[in-house]
Amino acid sequence: MKTRQTAGAEIGQPVRIEHGRHRSVSLDDERAEVRRNLLRTLPRIDSKYFYDDVGSHLFEEITVLPEYYQTRTEEALLAAIADEVVEATGARELVELGSGAGRKIQLLLDAMRRGSHLEGCVLLDINETFLRSSAETLAARYCEMEVRGVVGDFVHDLGTVGNGGRRRLFIFLAGTIGNLYPRQMDGFLRRVRAALGPDDAFLVGLDLVKDRGRLEAAYNDSAGVTAEFNLNALRVLNRRFGTDFEIDAFEHVAFYDADQEWIEMRLRARRPTSVSLGDTRRLRFDAGDDIRTEISRKYTPNSFVAALEGTGLELSGWFTDPEALFASALVRPIGDPESS
Ligand code: AVJ
Repeated sequence: MKTRQTAGAEIGQPVRIEHGRHRSVSLDDERAEVRRNLLRTLPRIDSKYFYDDVGSHLFEEITVLPEYYQTRTEEALLAAIADEVVEATGARELVELGSGAGRKIQLLLDAMRRGSHLEGCVLLDINETFLRSSAETLAARYCEMEVRGVVGDFVHDLGTVGNGGRRRLFIFLAGTIGNLYPRQMDGFLRRVRAALGPDDAFLVGLDLVKDRGRLEAAYNDSAGVTAEFNLNALRVLNRRFGTDFEIDAFEHVAFYDADQEWIEMRLRARRPTSVSLGDTRRLRFDAGDDIRTEISRKYTPNSFVAALEGTGLELSGWFTDPEALFASALVRPIGDPESS
């Protein structure tokens, strides 16, 4: 693994940025996976391709849209429960998966500081620019704390976050866990379980099942930012893999699937178009043909408990806002009964 020193912060300890395993997946392997996903019966683009610098900024814009209640609701919720969570877990190190711009994490760091055991923090994010800047901001603001950044994704790089021997709280905010397909969810939770020490805990943000109108408005904002964010995935693929999607041949679609309890985002062909997949063939789309770009699962307490089943994790706390729009679930490893 490559380690680089960054002397960014004026004060505080130097930030260490490392690259996770996802980096060693070669561009060819990645291209092959993108191609396989586009050749499915319902073509699919992985939602991680939203988050280049432009897409990461568009997501930041989404978080302040009037229709997108998730971010401000989770922020208020975390402000209300941070002390209790820190107290209950006794955490000295915070590990954030998918840290993005990293503002909400400060609510928990502040609580750890008030509880006087803030020692370290590890950030894992796919976007190196965002990771670097938030790691440096945090190192300057919390100068007693050791800060590490891992450039990686939460599917490949959970094993890379290491263990400083301190009691840790893992956090996975924003409802991003809802972007995992059901088939990925079980493996993800098992890898989280494997990364947790017996006294560590995991705090997960979950967007909750609610009326269709409210959900669909959050993904069809009137300013059109979500549409831009969605279309940006095609630009990312064109640039990274040399595909030649005609961006203006597609339009943004988002709807709630009540059976699956998820929001689905798609890009729908407005007219016949095609894309080169690197060989001589072109993949053709008729008007009305879709590419699925994201699912965003909405939970109930029951469906989340069901997801934990058999993973070695159990629910130990459930917090919601007064309107029950969003939840923070506190999860712990199930102790080995033999050893206690
Ligand atoms: C950042 C994954 C939580 O699923 O709501 C926002 C991403 N997609 N608008 C979500 C997103 C469309 C967002 N997460």
